[in-house]
Amino acid sequence: MQFLKSSLGRKYLMALTGLGLVLFLISHLAANLLVFAGPDAFNAYGHGLRQYPAFLLIARIGLGITFLVHVITGISLRLENSKARPVAYAANATVAASLASRTMIQTGILVFVFLVFHLAHYTLFLVDAGYADLRDSMGRHDTYTMVTTAFAQPLVAGSYILAMLVLGFHLTHGVPSLFQSLGLSTSTVWPTIEKIGRLLAILLVLAFLSIPAAIWLQLIPGRGGY
Ligand code: HEM
Repeated sequence: MQFLKSSLGRKYLMALTGLGLVLFLISHLAANLLVFAGPDAFNAYGHGLRQYPAFLLIARIGLGITFLVHVITGISLRLENSKARPVAYAANATVAASLASRTMIQTGILVFVFLVFHLAHYTLFLVDAGYADLRDSMGRHDTYTMVTTAFAQPLVAGSYILAMLVLGFHLTHGVPSLFQSLGLSTSTVWPTIEKIGRLLAILLVLAFLSIPAAIWLQLIPGRGGY
């Protein structure tokens, strides 16, 4: 417990929860890319998951706790850093710290705002109550029609694309730095690991971004609304 209270312990916790969130993002991306395979594959995935409500509940609680711990440790480490250094660095001293690393709190808050909207949009159906009743010919929730109808609207697709860019910026610092906090930076292969981390973040975001972009550009057939 004492270890978790120390700043080294909290850095570990930050890295472990960050890793958990990245693994969630990879699995969420894999599921969402099924939209390119058509309505049947996309709707079957969501329907399949709902057949295991206990698993879904545990996964959601685990994800929620992981997210909360990540946010709380992130804020507490940042507050501690600014207490230890009440006067900001002179401009030339900040050159080494990238813009992404200096704006982690701000980009993190923006990702949080996106997440609140995203859950209201696609999970709680608060933005359009009609999404809740969408059914395909097999009686499954028609997630395909929901997503393609939403992203056909330029404002919705544009906001998701912007949010993905902010997430990408957060991850270009977050992914390499989680490897560093887990102790990999002492290794001689660190420069390669750092590059792989950054590349992974960029690929993840480009793949996420391709979904609203492809639907908006009508590269994926929608169903003309519902
Ligand atoms: C193009 C991008 C994205 C699309 C098309 C998308 C699509 C979806 C859909 C359709 C759902 C509802 C799933 C269901 O209930 O069957 C969902 C849930 C969710 N999404 Fe996304 N998503 C995207 C990006 C993201 C990003 C970047 C994050 C995280 C920063 C995220 C986090 C979540 C979470 C936490 C849930 C709730 C999971 C649950 O209820 O179990 N999504 N998303």
